[in-house]
Amino acid sequence: MNKLIRTILFLLSTVFFQNYSISAETPSFLKTDWTFKGLFGKYDRASLQRGYQVYTEVCAACHSMQYLSYRNLAEPGGPEFTEEEAKFIAASFEVLDGPNSDGEMFMRPAKLSDKFVMPYENVEASKAANGGAYPPDMSVLAKARKGGADYIYSLLLGYDEPPADIKLDDGVYYNKYMYGNKIKMSAPLSDGLVEYNDGTDATKEQMAKDITTFLMWSAEPHLETRHKTGFRVIIYLIILSILVYLTMKKIWSRVETKI
Ligand code: HEC
Repeated sequence: MNKLIRTILFLLSTVFFQNYSISAETPSFLKTDWTFKGLFGKYDRASLQRGYQVYTEVCAACHSMQYLSYRNLAEPGGPEFTEEEAKFIAASFEVLDGPNSDGEMFMRPAKLSDKFVMPYENVEASKAANGGAYPPDMSVLAKARKGGADYIYSLLLGYDEPPADIKLDDGVYYNKYMYGNKIKMSAPLSDGLVEYNDGTDATKEQMAKDITTFLMWSAEPHLETRHKTGFRVIIYLIILSILVYLTMKKIWSRVETKI
């Protein structure tokens, strides 16, 4: 019994101290309601489609998403554009193909099977264009950063005037949520920057939420299936526990209790 209490106390203390150490490093993230959190969480389709629009009109100027293909945009569990729409989106980009029968490379409109076009030829070119900083590939960024979606959302809205004691070089900006508070990306969002196709008001917060949802999906495209499986597993375990309990009662009912 003593051992049990000690174990519980130990577990509680690790939980407590872990939270404590996280909150000491970064200010707590901005709160927003994500539809994909929780056991029944699902992505908001309209938000994913708007998020794609923000990516392609704003972030794609600097950030690649090398693991995404245009066909992913039409797959179940994602933004679920129709196949026609996804084809149309793909065709608005040009990719290098070839060689043709003359041995020459040529440009052609992208197809569903093509990967998202990259803003730069290579990492060096992207650094050269961004004052030495590398705009990270965003395919799995939401999973690669501590805090995930909450971190990205907060970072996008976390630009502020620097406190008096912090000096910033040219091309460096103050951000409350960036590690070390200095970031070499100027605030990418401002109210009304995009005009949403579905008429939603494009406030900074709305765009931050939509692009973050989109990045979360690209990092975890199977979240919805995983949640469904998780739910089935729980139901299965509950039924199994009831059966085990009943079996156990039945078996032990043959033994007479002394007390
Ligand atoms: C003009 C180029 C440019 C645009 C446009 C741009 N970024 Fe960036 N971004 C950068 C650069 C450069 C960095 C690296 C900054 C650094 O390491 O200090 C970066 C870093 C980031 C990071 C990573 C921060 C970290 O933890 O390392 C995130 C998240 C991010 N950008 C999101 C976005 C989103 C979302 C958009 C579109 C709404 C966007 N960016 C648009 C250039 C850009």
